[in-house]
Amino acid sequence: MIFIWAEDQNHGIGLKGTLPWHLPADLKFFKQTTMGNTLVSGRRTFASYKKPLPHRKHVVLTTDSSAQYPDDVTVLHETQAVIAYERDHPDETVIISGGAKVFASLLPYVDTLIRTRVDHAFEVDTYMPAIDYSKFKLVEQQHRLADEKNQYALTFERWQRR
Ligand SMILES: NC(=O)c1ccc[n+]([C@@H]2O[C@H](COP(=O)([O-])OP(=O)(O)OC[C@H]3O[C@@H](n4cnc5c(N)ncnc54)[C@H](OP(=O)(O)O)[C@@H]3O)[C@@H](O)[C@H]2O)c1
Repeated sequence: MIFIWAEDQNHGIGLKGTLPWHLPADLKFFKQTTMGNTLVSGRRTFASYKKPLPHRKHVVLTTDSSAQYPDDVTVLHETQAVIAYERDHPDETVIISGGAKVFASLLPYVDTLIRTRVDHAFEVDTYMPAIDYSKFKLVEQQHRLADEKNQYALTFERWQRR
């Protein structure tokens, strides 16, 4: 199982149901990384997409059994159902795209962390749950300087469970 997210200097990830920043370079990275794969998101994160993202399968987690979603969106109601989904779809690459609640419940099962670090401290109301990075190995790291379209420097990282 793979997690993908971007966090600020204080592990902040969200503000008022959306991202605290506007960084097209990170959106492009997210698109490239998730294209063709299956995205698992919590109700609030899925709502933040406004509509299903093209060329990706969507799985949404909600405890609301009467929630209405488009036909091509798979709706699951508990953490273990995500584990079962991944086991039953071995041909799919399952990528967990948040938010904090979903990351927290799936943390014991994740093997790969794809983290973007944003070099700034933002106003946030949602934080990434604490991760014990001693259990993971940094296998890829790429720095990107700020530019006129991306106000803050970024570091793209990939961690693999030891
Ligand atoms: N920076 C990033 O990379 C990043 C990534 C993702 C999200 N975000 C931001 O984070 C914020 C959203 O995060 P969030 O933690 O508030 O919400 P969230 O995790 O996206 O959604 C929470 C909701 O998902 C459902 N849910 C979550 N875990 C579940 C589980 N194990 N079983 C059943 N249902 C489950 C519940 O829905 P019900 O209440 O319907 O039961 C819960 O209230 C937004 O601001 C978003 O933009 C940032």
